[in-house]
Amino acid sequence: MISEQAKKEIDLWVSKYPEGRGSSAVMQALTIVQKENGGSLNGDLMQAVADYLDMPAISVQEVATFYENYNHKPVGKHVIRFCHNISCMLNGSDELISYLEDKLEVKTGQVSKDGLVSVKKVECLGACVGGPMCQIGDQYHEHLTTNKLDKILEDLK
Ligand code: FES
Repeated sequence: MISEQAKKEIDLWVSKYPEGRGSSAVMQALTIVQKENGGSLNGDLMQAVADYLDMPAISVQEVATFYENYNHKPVGKHVIRFCHNISCMLNGSDELISYLEDKLEVKTGQVSKDGLVSVKKVECLGACVGGPMCQIGDQYHEHLTTNKLDKILEDLK
């Protein structure tokens, strides 16, 4: 279930923690297997992470369902993680999310018909001064407008 390459990556993270504390690498392990699985987790993968890190499955599920980093349904090739917390909301995130939904013909949490994009509402990403903002992959996009979103979507194609 967990590839040899993913195990190597997980082992690297486990080695950063004291002996016997490998379960501390659970977030990295979930991130690695999620990425390898096309961007989402499932029950088998969470169980495999629990087995590999020798920790209770329920503890892995608690982490995987608490943090918004993890997806439990298939996602698009690119996930637009749109902050809708207070600073971003006051600066128009709700309107921009609606704009995206209309333009992509999807609702938040769904994947566009071409499989390219999914939109996810998330809580504060720590870039409040740049709101409204979103994260795509490792990149933050700040001070968003409809024009900027159009350009971002074009670039994703
Ligand atoms: S409120 Fe949006 S980044 Fe903090």
